[in-house]
Amino acid sequence: MSERKILVTSALPYANGPIHLGHLVEYIQTDIWVRFQRQRGNQCYFVCADDTHGTPIMLKADREGITPEQLITKVGIEHLADFTEFYVDFDNYHSTHSEENKIFSSLIYNRLRSAGHISSRTITQAYDPVKSMFLPDRFIKGDCPKCGAVDQYGDGCEACGATYSPIELKNAVSAISGEKPIEKDSVHYFFNLADFASMLSNWTTEGHLQPEVRNKLAEWLNSGLQQWDISRDAPYFGFEIPDAPGKYFYVWLDAPIGYMASFKNLCDKKSLSFDEFWSVESTTELYHFIGKDIIYFHALFWPAMLSGANFRLPTAIFAHGFLTVNGEKMSKSRGTFITARTYLNHLNPEYLRYYFAAKLSAGIDDIDLNFDDFSQRVNSDLVGKVVNIASRCSGFINKRFDNKLSLHCSELALFDEFVSCNILIAELYESREYGKAMREIMALADKANQYIDEKKPWLIAKQDNKETELHDVCSVGINLFRLLIAYLKPVIPSLASQAEKFLSIDSQIWPSEATPLLDHTVNIFIPLMTRVEADKISSIIVDSKENLEKTIDTSSPITKKNEPKFEPIADTIEFNDFAKLDLRIAKIIKATHVKDSDKLLQLTIDIGDETRNIFAGIKSAYSPEDLEGKLTLVIANLAPKKMRFGNSEGMVLAAGPGDKDIWILSPDNGAVAGMRVK
Ligand code: MSP
Ligand code: ZN
Repeated sequence: MSERKILVTSALPYANGPIHLGHLVEYIQTDIWVRFQRQRGNQCYFVCADDTHGTPIMLKADREGITPEQLITKVGIEHLADFTEFYVDFDNYHSTHSEENKIFSSLIYNRLRSAGHISSRTITQAYDPVKSMFLPDRFIKGDCPKCGAVDQYGDGCEACGATYSPIELKNAVSAISGEKPIEKDSVHYFFNLADFASMLSNWTTEGHLQPEVRNKLAEWLNSGLQQWDISRDAPYFGFEIPDAPGKYFYVWLDAPIGYMASFKNLCDKKSLSFDEFWSVESTTELYHFIGKDIIYFHALFWPAMLSGANFRLPTAIFAHGFLTVNGEKMSKSRGTFITARTYLNHLNPEYLRYYFAAKLSAGIDDIDLNFDDFSQRVNSDLVGKVVNIASRCSGFINKRFDNKLSLHCSELALFDEFVSCNILIAELYESREYGKAMREIMALADKANQYIDEKKPWLIAKQDNKETELHDVCSVGINLFRLLIAYLKPVIPSLASQAEKFLSIDSQIWPSEATPLLDHTVNIFIPLMTRVEADKISSIIVDSKENLEKTIDTSSPITKKNEPKFEPIADTIEFNDFAKLDLRIAKIIKATHVKDSDKLLQLTIDIGDETRNIFAGIKSAYSPEDLEGKLTLVIANLAPKKMRFGNSEGMVLAAGPGDKDIWILSPDNGAVAGMRVK
């Protein structure tokens, strides 16, 4: 087989937050594939970069009182350190805020424009008059125009699922300044995606995509391709568009170009040929590993941009699913929003690499990290099956045979059977069916252990004149262990290299032609991996909950559109959040018992301009008749809540330890219903 030339990328993580375990699904999945290709003898380059542009990064730097450049430098260093400690072995880790990326972004834009694929027109958008900037949809909040739910983002309602434009939001405010946005016109530049409709309908059905992804694409293509808005107005952290002062490339334009830029940067360092990998005539392979949330950008915009700018198209795009933890989406409050760093502070990164490998397939299903399952698999497979073989055999080899393996292999058929599995295991790695690959490898590990269980070297060792047999059995064990390590090397590279030191061998290539080590001296065995300790997992959860307190000010209310929304955290709130509360003095006009409820009272309250129905959990402290005529503090703009007994249209604020001691206001001090509380 001739050597393949392959360029591989993982999606570029945003430079506004830490790497978390969800991200790592992707980087570990890609890294395993890359390591497998290299072990097979292919020329395989793996590049990535931080995705540094856009409004969230600009605003985050603002909040931290540093420049965006300072922020992205700091985060870039942290990201790379995390990846390195998880053994993600990039050939190059660059930044989209780089000279190369600026050059390629302008080049691609200019080529698209010359070919007539760029148009411009004036659009009207929400504008924050205090911050003097246009507001991306996600930075506008208000009431849903369809169902009235309060505090919805500008692009869609989480309560009723309606989608709309931010201009339609009622009582809209800027999430940055809290001010009411105004409407403002501005010229925007658009990429005419529809020009590529027929090219895309071919490309998306030619085997470059997974079947599930191809079906999704067919839906998008059938519903028609819109023009893509690729410009943003100043202030914006990004690249200014050539010949359009004050206009910047939208972050998603220059982000995938960052793949090229990072590779160009590598070519310059290593004297590689950029064109060999990116020209239209290229015969090399190009693969993008991505999460399923960013398929649109990679399977529509990106091929269209490349084709319009006369570059080669990707060989394939490999999408994966999302990580859940203990069956639920990662949650800051449950302590399951776990950063790479928190994990590294407590557990061996190779546990996670193996666990993800065991769970990954070629599809886009979500994968779950269940901590019981995690401990169980790592302990039983890696420690209990694989490492155990070496520890069971190495003691005898050391004590009785001066660390030397026997002169011949007494179980050549078994050894050959292990070698012949290399074809299937390679196919499974190649097709990203890592879970199946791990099962095949563990089936071999079971076989090796069975062999040792049957031969019982610990009994042979006690018998006279059985030296040769003992030597042979243990040598077979060590040789089988060596093959298992070769197969697992893409997944657990550090353990593999320690094992190679123990075996006193060079870094193992793919064992398609392997022969047993004979008359070979190994080193003294040192335990290669210890069991997962349950208390370490608890510490990770505890630390993740603590992190959330420390990082509270960095978690803005803005969630990116293409990112799963993590639960908001409520330990402290920003002034803007507080300012949104409509607190009022209310008069309780009527109070009644609620049938079948031993906690609630139903209150009719007067908030000045209207009366409201509220269910309040204060029955333990008040009889209904004691409440009528009293004043209380209410949150008047709380979204109505449907309860078993009816709608509750606000919340009564009362203070006290509970039970009988819950106090509300008494009508003195001149407070009257409807007064706003400042
Ligand atoms: N910056 C863009 C990608 C630009 S590529 C030209 C972006 N960044 S991200 O930081 O939000 O995500 C980076 C990668 O991690 C994406 O492929 C994304 O799908 C993946 N993941 C982020 N959270 C994830 C999970 N919870 N689970 C699995 N993958 C996840 O998108
Ligand atoms: Zn709604």
